Amino acid sequence: MGIGAATSRILAREGARVVIADIDTMSGEELSRQIRNHGHHAIFIRHDVALEESWHLTISRAVAEYGGLDVLVNNAGIGFPNGSVEDQTLEQWRSVMSVNLDGVFLGTKAAIAAMRKTGRGGSIINVSSILGIVGSPATAAYVASKGGVRLLSKSAALHCAKSGYAIRVNSIHPGWIETPLMDKSVRARGGDPQAQRATIVAQTPLGRFGEPDDIAYGVLYLASDESRFVTGTELVIDGATWPNKNALFLLQQQRRFLAQDWKKAFRRLCQEPRQRHFDAQRVFQNFNARRRSLAERAHAEAHCISFPGLLFHRD
Ligand SMILES: NC(=O)c1ccc[n+]([C@@H]2O[C@H](COP(=O)([O-])OP(=O)(O)OC[C@H]3O[C@@H](n4cnc5c(N)ncnc54)[C@H](O)[C@@H]3O)[C@@H](O)[C@H]2O)c1
Repeated sequence: MGIGAATSRILAREGARVVIADIDTMSGEELSRQIRNHGHHAIFIRHDVALEESWHLTISRAVAEYGGLDVLVNNAGIGFPNGSVEDQTLEQWRSVMSVNLDGVFLGTKAAIAAMRKTGRGGSIINVSSILGIVGSPATAAYVASKGGVRLLSKSAALHCAKSGYAIRVNSIHPGWIETPLMDKSVRARGGDPQAQRATIVAQTPLGRFGEPDDIAYGVLYLASDESRFVTGTELVIDGATWPNKNALFLLQQQRRFLAQDWKKAFRRLCQEPRQRHFDAQRVFQNFNARRRSLAERAHAEAHCISFPGLLFHRD
């Protein structure tokens, strides 16, 4: 089960009348049937988020069925085809962007128009990723699309607030969540999938993969009036995966820079594979010249930890 299915179930259980909109007709029909069997409201509409016309049809039908639109969750997303910025073709790039970023743009735009008509305002929740906050070398299009979702959400939130629409727009940033998309991503890393999964769990301080419900409850909060003062923000739900990586990495760098033997520490840093392209001797001389006083030393540290290559996240 994906995040969208879990969200539909939880929102329906909490009393929402849900429209499930997806290109996968069979799964969507089945999910809406299951929700109705539990006595809740749900319909399915076949929808391709990359097409503007499809948004018009879907939202018109939702409004006709339920009398208005109060919440939109832009959840549809794809992770493939992907690759590094060197490997990716323009066609592949555009195919990821069309679903992950065009889809969110079109959905946000269409939802604002529908929500303005009711006069009740509303809540738009855009599903990004922790990879929308930090880079990753092997997934250029995916991280770019999710970074776009993050800032598009802020732009839309500011626009709605300044226009007095009472429409809130926020982004959610899941870490590793147990879904079909995540399974595909793990297999795409190559090697033994079980070993890959163990590595991911080891990087997650809470010691497990997230479950779709973990994200769905975040969506529920942002959809509800309990979050009425929350807009333009980003809700990270990742078991502390990213803070952990970031903190550990910066801590490692700081320990090295703060070591008594500056020369040795800096040489060791420059000898790491990712640093080979630097002229270590020249960089070290610059660095050494800057550390005469305490203030200068602090400045040099700041300078060093912002060299390209040092602040990327490690897989
Ligand atoms: N699973 C994770 O670890 C994870 C982590 C970070 C972010 N996310 C994001 O969460 C969202 C949901 O991911 P998931 O893991 O549940 O994936 P999933 O593959 O289980 O679900 C994605 C859904 O999007 C639908 N979809 C794809 N293209 C579409 C299109 N053009 N129009 C309409 N629907 C379309 C698919 O049919 C599918 O139902 C995605 O945006 C994904 O990028 C997931």
